[in-house]
Amino acid sequence: MYLTREEEKMLSGEYGEWVQKSIKLLIAIGEINKAEKFVEIKRAHLSGVSYKTVGDPILELLESIAEKGTKVRVFTTLNPAGIDTTHWKEFGFPNEFAEKQLRIINAFKKMGVNTTLTCTPYLTINRPKFGEPIAFAESSAVIYSNSIIGARTNRHGNLDALAAAITGRVPEMGLILTENRKATDLVKIDFTPKTDEEFNLLGLYIGDKLESNAIPALEFPKNIEFKEFHLRGLGAALAASGGVPMFHVIGYTPEAKDRKEAFQEDTPQEVFQISRDDLIEYKREIIDNFDKPDLIAIGCPHASLEEIEMITELVKGKRVKAGVKFWIFTSKYMLEQAKKKGYYRILEEAGVKIITDTCMVVAPLEAMGIKKIVSNSGKAVFYIPKLSKNIIRANIKELTEIIDKSME
Ligand code: F3S
Repeated sequence: MYLTREEEKMLSGEYGEWVQKSIKLLIAIGEINKAEKFVEIKRAHLSGVSYKTVGDPILELLESIAEKGTKVRVFTTLNPAGIDTTHWKEFGFPNEFAEKQLRIINAFKKMGVNTTLTCTPYLTINRPKFGEPIAFAESSAVIYSNSIIGARTNRHGNLDALAAAITGRVPEMGLILTENRKATDLVKIDFTPKTDEEFNLLGLYIGDKLESNAIPALEFPKNIEFKEFHLRGLGAALAASGGVPMFHVIGYTPEAKDRKEAFQEDTPQEVFQISRDDLIEYKREIIDNFDKPDLIAIGCPHASLEEIEMITELVKGKRVKAGVKFWIFTSKYMLEQAKKKGYYRILEEAGVKIITDTCMVVAPLEAMGIKKIVSNSGKAVFYIPKLSKNIIRANIKELTEIIDKSME
């Protein structure tokens, strides 16, 4: 790979051990993928924060990187951790887990990372621009940034995203390049999804059907009106079940004003047709079914103000039934907005809690006695059983039905 003088200095160790290690890692990734040079980035978003998913080896590695005085070079935000950092005792998070979790967050803080602890940085203080090269980890943030915003990021892992933040560079490869952003498969949806549940199931279903790294172009019936959080949920589910880093919605997303643009004048490798019956059958096959959850978990990806407002309207004047917890997962940033708008007070009165900095997948809920979760998120129901080693069961339902059944 061609290196600038600055990159040569990083490689020579002039900026310290971890800058050198970081650029070495990125050069190795670039060379495997035939990148000719680096591109500079202005922002990054890091995952691999929850102690539940990273454990002691990464905790120790992060502390040793931070102790050496290593700093990120670009504006960098952080994915959810395993606890609500303010109210973890009140919510019943285990002490030892919380102590290790706080050490991980502190290590990132020492490196100059903004400890936002959210998977929706683009809804808070880290929203990239159209066409901007970035280094985002967190698959739901990757697919949203590529698809809905038109920013350019590869699907980074924990360590290469950190290396990109430390060097301010990514190899020029993959989805950074225009030609790799063209759609590969055409997916014709012959019905109009109406609910959060349908959009999320659609994401899981399409992801299941595709080769990993495929880029589907979705063709919906004409005149469909999308809510932002419907496409966000669909994208997160696609990324979960299919490892998909980007999708187009023909006539809607910024690089797909029509089929021709989505495919960059090429023809689809595969064409799929999906009906509502396919989706119903798919749900029957793969989703666990039970009635009484002990936790209702909304906010995967983290809830936006629009979703919090919608829930507030639906629960106003009602009360969560005894024996059920109803938690909305979001960022501290969004919690503040919800307080300013008066939503927080109404939710509290209804017994609905907002829990920040963490989520239903990366929090140690199995250690907190939770066994059955209902969510409106495809990504959540995909990962919860896997990450809890099947201790927790997960079911998907649409928000209005969840609220109808859990409140009186
Ligand atoms: Fe975010 Fe956790 Fe879902 S990190 S996308 S809420 S699994």
